[in-house]
Amino acid sequence: MNIRIINGPNLNMLGIREPDIYGRTDYKALCKMITDYAKSRDIEVELFQSNHEGDLVDYIQEAYKHNDGIVINPGAYTHTSVAILDAAKAVSLPMVEVHISEVDKREDFRQVSFIRRACFKTITGHGLNGYLEAIDAILDEVSK
Ligand code: DQA
Repeated sequence: MNIRIINGPNLNMLGIREPDIYGRTDYKALCKMITDYAKSRDIEVELFQSNHEGDLVDYIQEAYKHNDGIVINPGAYTHTSVAILDAAKAVSLPMVEVHISEVDKREDFRQVSFIRRACFKTITGHGLNGYLEAIDAILDEVSK
């Protein structure tokens, strides 16, 4: 079992950016939290973060025939990117959308999600723990 964990723009600024919303844990610590959890569940994870839409599209495409599922927090591209949605639909892997904050209770523009159409589950507002819940959701989905 090999899952890609993909983070979009500004998630590399975790711990610095708007700590009241996103907390004080940095991206490096998030990666460690995810890899430790994956080890405990006996699965492999590949972590990727980019501020560039095309790089995120490339990384999703590369998951085709290579990974068993994708956990994705596309950051602000959640609300704008048809290209990321199309890449997700193209590879057609079990995918979970994660948001650290409760996007559905924030500004109107954050309540629109393109990627949601390609995901079997969305987790919002559970903080960094949402990534671990998303891994579990993929494990459940794949073992069905
Ligand atoms: C986010 C919510 C988005 O609206 C925002 O642009 C982000 C982070 C979240 O994890 O809560 O960058 O995806």
